[in-house]
This record gives sequence, structure tokens and C-alpha cells, in this order.
Amino acid sequence: MNFGKDFYWGTATASYQIEGGRCEDGKSDSIWDTFAHKSGAIERGETGDVACDHYHRLDEDLDLLKELGGNAYRFSLSWSRILPNGTGKINEKGTDFYNRLIDGLLERNITPFMTLYHWDLPQVLQNRGGFLNREIADWFAEYAEVVKKLYGDRVKHYFTINEPQTMLGCGYREGVHAPGLALSLRELLLAMHNLLLAHGNAAKVLKTIPGSEVGYASCGMLYAPASDKKEDFEAAYERTFACRQDWRGKDPVGSISSYADPIFFGKYSDWWYEFPEEFRPEVTESDMKLISTPLDFFALNMYDGRFVRRCDDGNIEELPFKAGAQKTQMNWEVTPEVLYWAPLILQKRYKKKIYIGENGIACSDFVFLDGKIHDTYRQEYIKMHLRSLCRAANEKDSKIAGYFHWSFMDNFEWSFGYRPRFGLVHVDFETLKRTPKDSFYYYQDIIKTNGENL
Ligand code: BGC
Repeated sequence: MNFGKDFYWGTATASYQIEGGRCEDGKSDSIWDTFAHKSGAIERGETGDVACDHYHRLDEDLDLLKELGGNAYRFSLSWSRILPNGTGKINEKGTDFYNRLIDGLLERNITPFMTLYHWDLPQVLQNRGGFLNREIADWFAEYAEVVKKLYGDRVKHYFTINEPQTMLGCGYREGVHAPGLALSLRELLLAMHNLLLAHGNAAKVLKTIPGSEVGYASCGMLYAPASDKKEDFEAAYERTFACRQDWRGKDPVGSISSYADPIFFGKYSDWWYEFPEEFRPEVTESDMKLISTPLDFFALNMYDGRFVRRCDDGNIEELPFKAGAQKTQMNWEVTPEVLYWAPLILQKRYKKKIYIGENGIACSDFVFLDGKIHDTYRQEYIKMHLRSLCRAANEKDSKIAGYFHWSFMDNFEWSFGYRPRFGLVHVDFETLKRTPKDSFYYYQDIIKTNGENL
């Protein structure tokens, strides 16, 4: 079993989580700059003002990426660095940072995978309503045009939006992420539709770049069958694409099919129409045509999942986790089997090539007396997950094209600040010193052998 010769091995990061340089070279504030400075928003009042200071340590980080040896790197752009007014005038100093990043990657034979939007909307656009304003679709189209013009000659792999589920779920429904809103169902459905229009516009632009491939990164609750029985597989499939439910009730913005069905099928899921008409935004045929602009891949960000089985009465039972089941520093269950099932379930429905856009574990890593970081749990996590993924990659008709480990380095983990450590590279947030962890060398070996040593 192997991953195939053209497999992309990479790591992933996001602008606000690593860059710092908050007010540098003409960058304006994003909603995350504003939110992180609100009292009580982030653990210990931490912010991304400096983060990993990647903005000033680009060359060192590029060299570490080279040392790791992957052939791909996924990063996101800070919209407010490129267009401080959200639209209009381009900020050359800001755009130059990404030129240096892209050129630095290419010089090191690393393929850039670019995300346009990983949650850091320019604050000026939030002031105009953000995703509640349908004009976001035009703003995003303009931004995509700028990206195409600036980087389209060298970047061929694009993610429009990262995890719309988390973005709207945490930012617009629960208020624990920027911009800190807790909106009504009507507003949520509107924001979701506007987000899809924005995605469609960007996809349309990016698809005109010669040789480009375009997709977006999804998360959402993943379900795997509790056994090899066909009925359990069907239960997992059904649950994966149903409308997510939590203690607040139905959660349309947190579901996988909320975005993927409109994007890949050109129509909302059947469950969407169960919401009363007065809550649903007006949707035209041309909206759906735009939203379903053909994409090249489906990217899945996978951290954990649940197991389900079909009961004799036809209902689906979600299996409880055993007492003492292993959990990560985020309190997420460790469910490597899901990285076998989820790509197959997604491929069955959407029939697209799959990238694993993110996968990783937060551990309470620290520097040992010998100066190293012996993160055995992360190595085991990587091994277990990649073994599952390799099995999936070897199933008939399966097309799994790459794996991006989250994250390249420890970084600003949103409302949790710097406490959770997801990196292959340890960052001392006082000195900003980078130290590759043991898992860095472990992943390096996997990459070297194209996964043969797993
Ligand atoms: C996000 C990352 C985040 C990671 C771990 C994903 O939801 O895309 O930005 O750091 O999960 O929580």
C-alpha cells in the first residue's frame, strides 16, 4: 500500500495565527485584530499582534519548511494586508510579503497552496455588514481578481474559504470567534448564502488562471460506521450529510452539506427547506449557478469524529466513547479510523478528488532538559491517521491527492490563545525561538519514504 507518486505532502498555517505584524507596512485591522483585543475574548488576553512573528522571520521559516522536506505548503493571505480598505487600493508592501513567500517556496521546490480566506475579514468590511451584506460577494470577487493578477502566474492551487462551518458557527452563531456575533436563524441563513455567493465568485475568477485547481476546505462533524456492516456505513453516510444538531437545536451553518450540496449539486439540501420560508433568504437560479461553479477538489479538515450504527428499528445510534478514551489537549477524541471512512463517504457523494487540508493534534509540549521536544503522542497520532488515510487511498476509484499536517508550527489557536500547541515546530512565544519537535523528524521520514515506512 502506498500514496502514489504524485502525492502532496505538506503542512498548513493561517495568516492571523502566525504572521503578527499587525500594523506593519500599511496593513489595516482585520476582525480578528479587533476581536482579540476585546476584554475576555481570548484566554489570558492573548492576541495575534506578534503571533510567531512569521512576517519578520519568513526566511528562517522557509528554511525549516525546506528541511522538513514536503513538496507542498498551505498558507492563507491576510486580506487586510493586501487591500487595507477591503477593496480598491492595493498595498504593495503587503503584497510583496506574499511574493517573497511564494518565490521562497518555489525556490525550495515546495508547491504553494493558497487559501484566500481563513477568517480574517478586513474590519472595514465588517463595518459594512460583513457576510450579512450581499455585497460581500462583489468584495470577494475583487479580492480574488487582485490575487489572480498578483500571484496567478506562480500559484496554481487555491482554497477559496477555510471551514465556513467554523467561521459562521463560532463567529456568527456562538460568538466565540471574531466578529463575536450570536445571530438569529434568519441572519445565519442569509450569511451562509452570501458566503456561498462569495465563494462562487472567487472560484469563477480563480478558475480562469491557466492550470489552476480550485476548491475550499470543509470541516463539520464526521461519522464513521461502528462496524463493516453495510447498514452501519449507510447510517454514517446519512448522519454525515444531515443537518447538525446541538443543544441549541438545528445548526445549519455547522453542517457539511450546507455548503457542499449547493457547491457541488447546485441546490440546497432537502433539510434546508424544512426551515420556514420566512427565515430563508431569497435564492435565485443564477445564484445557484454561480455557487456551483465547478471545482476541482474537496478539501477535508479532519480532527475527530463519531461512530454510529443502524439499530433494528431503523434509527441511528451514536456510540458513546469508552470511559478514559484518549483525548487531545483540545479535549477532542482521537479517532484515526475516521480518516479512512470520511474521505470515502465524501467521495461517494461529491465524486471529487480529496485533499486532507488539515489534520493534527494539540499536545502540552514543552522543551525537555536535553533541549528537545519529545512529542511521542503526536508521532503516534500521525502514524495512526496516515495508516487510515493510506488504506482509503488504496480503495478502488479513490482519489486522495495530498495531506497537510496542522500545523507547521505552534501558533495562535484562536480563542484559546497560545496554550494549545499543534505544531511540528515548537515556538517559544517569549523569545520566538523555533525548535523542531521529534514529530518534525518523524514526519520528515514519512515524507522521504512517501509513506512506505508507516
Ligand atoms: C482551523 C485552524 C485551527 C485548527 C485547530 C481548524 O478548525 O482551520 O485554524 O487552528 O482547526 O483548531
